[in-house]
Amino acid sequence: MKAIILCAGKGTRLRPFTYTTAKHLIPVANKPVILYTIEKIKSTGITQIGMIVSRENRADFENTLGDGSKYGVEITYILQTEPKGLAHAVLMAKDFLGDEDFLMYLGDNLIMDDIRPFVEDFREKEDLSALIMLSPVNDPTRFGIAIMEGNRIIKTIEKPKEPRSNLAIIGLYLFRKDIFDGIANIKPSWRGEYEITDAIDWLIQNKGTVEGHIVYGWWKDTGKPEDLIEANHKILEDIIEDFKVEGVIEASSSIHGRVSIGEGTEVVNSAIRGPVIIGKNCTISNAYIGPYTSIGDGALIENCEIENSIVMDEVRISNLSSRIDSSLIGKKVEIYESDGKPKGFQIIAGDLSKVIVSK
Ligand code: G1P
Repeated sequence: MKAIILCAGKGTRLRPFTYTTAKHLIPVANKPVILYTIEKIKSTGITQIGMIVSRENRADFENTLGDGSKYGVEITYILQTEPKGLAHAVLMAKDFLGDEDFLMYLGDNLIMDDIRPFVEDFREKEDLSALIMLSPVNDPTRFGIAIMEGNRIIKTIEKPKEPRSNLAIIGLYLFRKDIFDGIANIKPSWRGEYEITDAIDWLIQNKGTVEGHIVYGWWKDTGKPEDLIEANHKILEDIIEDFKVEGVIEASSSIHGRVSIGEGTEVVNSAIRGPVIIGKNCTISNAYIGPYTSIGDGALIENCEIENSIVMDEVRISNLSSRIDSSLIGKKVEIYESDGKPKGFQIIAGDLSKVIVSK
């Protein structure tokens, strides 16, 4: 069995971050989102992964992941030249997949459940044409949904206006080669895309059985800044190993809870309350770093307080009179207060940045 990860989306809801990086490479708990996906796939024993990328983000992925060998997998990059939908993305991977069964994973989805039982189920039930991971949601109109009879899916509908089911398709699918017959028989939807849900419906009507595999654990489509902040919170809450202090903590500082501090980082006269991850070569001075915060490498954090946030590499934050909370702060951003006159805000923010000051 092989796997494909769909990563060609533009990530418009994550601008300005996605002007300079693919959304799947944004760090959560100091690790790019895509690595959680690669680890999940590897846990099932699948090692041949086709990454479906766009012209814009291909180099980014290649530079970060290379051929996958450092993660124990073998990555092949496949270009989706136009954003024509998920079924179109699968078609781009036809040569890579050959006749093999495959796992398809939407690259921006984070899922906490063990996916091995899902893959095992499909390996055992050879009569199934497809097995789709589903989860109950409160807002089914935002998703593709599945209508079930027992374990069987009898219909899938993309973004239904009046949903007849609350079971959302959450971005993990298992297919056999006959999905390509489905893809060959569909037309673009109202949003101009070749929908994988339409190809699945074709399978249901013309081939064999399609089943749903329902999961109840935490998962997230990390399409918006607040999703990433929530994912960071969840992952820091859940990971219990991997916390180690390699940096230097001066005696005047206090550390509570699970805290990881990278090599070359210095913590001076500060309070850190975990779970917190701080990268390498940072300076944390006269600061409070509160729970659910991740700080990348080379950051300078002084005379300020920060909580429940993602702070990326080489950020400089200093002398703030209010606490930073629930924020996503990109690489090399500078935030500070000065004594300059006149009093007020001086803001130099790129397109689509957000500055929110609570009174
Ligand atoms: C896509 C799929 C949809 C699925 C969702 C999961 O939607 O088309 O069926 O429920 O991912 O995140 P999109 O992200 O393209 O709106």
